[in-house]
Amino acid sequence: MSSARLERMREAVRGLYDRNRQRGRAEWCARDYDFVCPSIGTYPFQWFWDSCFHAVVLSRLDPERARGEIRSLLANAQPDGFVAHVTFWQREKYEDMLAAYAIAYRTPYLSDCIQPPLLAEAVQAAARGEGGPAFLAEVLPAVRRYYDWLDRVRDPDHDGLVATLQPDESGLDHAPKYDAYLGITGLAAEDFTAGWERVAGPYAEVGREPERMFGLDLFVVEDVLVNAIYAENVRVLGELLAAAGDAAGAEQMRRRARRTTTALVDKCYDRDAGLFFDLAGADEETLRTNSISSLMPLVLPDLPAPIAASLVDHLEDPREYSAPFPVPSVAMNVPSFSAAPIGKLVWRGPTWINTNWYLSRGLRRHGRPDLAGSIEDRSARLVEEHGFREYYDPLTGEGAGAHDFSWSAVVLDMLARGEEQAGQE
Ligand code: GLC
Repeated sequence: MSSARLERMREAVRGLYDRNRQRGRAEWCARDYDFVCPSIGTYPFQWFWDSCFHAVVLSRLDPERARGEIRSLLANAQPDGFVAHVTFWQREKYEDMLAAYAIAYRTPYLSDCIQPPLLAEAVQAAARGEGGPAFLAEVLPAVRRYYDWLDRVRDPDHDGLVATLQPDESGLDHAPKYDAYLGITGLAAEDFTAGWERVAGPYAEVGREPERMFGLDLFVVEDVLVNAIYAENVRVLGELLAAAGDAAGAEQMRRRARRTTTALVDKCYDRDAGLFFDLAGADEETLRTNSISSLMPLVLPDLPAPIAASLVDHLEDPREYSAPFPVPSVAMNVPSFSAAPIGKLVWRGPTWINTNWYLSRGLRRHGRPDLAGSIEDRSARLVEEHGFREYYDPLTGEGAGAHDFSWSAVVLDMLARGEEQAGQE
């Protein structure tokens, strides 16, 4: 039986997802679209990882809408498997907004970047219940092509870790872990735009051809958050392929997922710090900023127990991550940490609900349901008291950034999972 709190949240999310629903027909590709945008005021288009979180949330409200969200996300997948990080379905309606974005385009309607690859988890959620097997059969070929593309095109040194080619590909656009690597010293929006352009300019000159972009070695990051999500999703893709009767495909994905997890542990885990760090450039230099990425491998079920325990120690440390409203996106004792937003810069300290969704699941997997429950409860309180905001001050809980921000609704999935688990205990 679900609690009154869960029911109230469900109703609030239903209202939000009706307000942020974008439906219509796009003449540029002669297709209908139906998706939830991140926020009408700032992000009215379809973003890749946002949409995956939205599908997880929709699977709790209306599985058919969750499937529609995935269909729209995959509608413009390229023949080689690539899926854009933004699809500008209705760009004509918001032409003025585009001037404020620093985005690389593949076509006027598709961006030319990736985002954290949680497509398999989104598909798994959307395939729950009646009609699930038919939906899986419909989308699995494109999902498989996407992960094969990441493996083939985005892992040029074949170590099992996929690489990002510009900061926004990690979804963590202005994270301080990139400052020194990008030559950013100031905190004005222009400093970040200039840092981005130093990379995007030369990429344009080589025609944005991945091999040549890697060759320039301007921004090549084996990002821990991206690879933790990648490993988990390739593992989940293995489960989906097994469910669809493709035993060989399932085994191949299990092997790939294990390889990525092993590479994360062997190459990104720093035993002295007890944290994971990104690797930058062809020489794989460590980007030693203690940030939310450093903790993300906790989501991997096969992470060795002593490593999981050390990540939990950091999460519980009041100097680092144990804030009144956890989990801050940068450890609080890092000099670049800022609890309050700095202009429109993102990921420099505030708490985000989507990373809490991952960390709380990781904590349940690694035997800490108590800490998971506390993160779930405080995430829900943030939304209940301050609304669906883009991010929150970890010290005061105050909301900031976009209003009516859709992925913060993933707290519904956190509450529902919490109740499911409590029911099993
Ligand atoms: C910001 C975030 C990115 C997100 C996008 C849309 O750019 O950094 O992760 O996908 O907004 O919400």
